[in-house]
Amino acid sequence: MKQVKFKQMKEGDKEDYLLLKQYEDKYFKGTADRIIKALKHLDTSLGGYQVSRLEHSLQTASRALRDNASEEMIVASLLHDIGDELAPENHSEFAAAILKPFVSKKTCWIIEKHGIFQMYYYAHHYNYNKNERDKYRNHPNFQDCANFCEQWDQASFDPNYETVPLKDFEPMLYRIFNREPYSVK
Ligand SMILES: [Fe+2]
Repeated sequence: MKQVKFKQMKEGDKEDYLLLKQYEDKYFKGTADRIIKALKHLDTSLGGYQVSRLEHSLQTASRALRDNASEEMIVASLLHDIGDELAPENHSEFAAAILKPFVSKKTCWIIEKHGIFQMYYYAHHYNYNKNERDKYRNHPNFQDCANFCEQWDQASFDPNYETVPLKDFEPMLYRIFNREPYSVK
């Protein structure tokens, strides 16, 4: 494998950086494959629920699919908890950062804020403010985020639900993550 000549970035010349660009372009095309791998990993995270995190993610995306959501919203639903493993304290932001270059600002916002909106269903049991989401009450995406949580996310812990398998979502993942980055407004 060809390598650059430099040992410090500032020593690199145009030839070096054009070489790196070739590797980068090839590597970026594998993003969807790496996301699928990360999703499969969710099978072992967070115990105590009746379904695994992967099953929960698939269920959330299945409901979005069956409600005729947009393709990017279905993919966002599938990824919304992908940060649980590496960023449990800010998993919403983690998922939003992955999606950001490939989806609309609105879809990104819904995923970024879903953790706060989701508190509505459980926070009072820990003596936290369940209405934390109210600070976004006047935001244009408030209702869509509330709907995401109510209809898809909080409802998707059901071991008896007929979940769509990951394989069926893969073509959508490839389409979304092969979009030109930041081309969707
Ligand atoms: Fe979730």
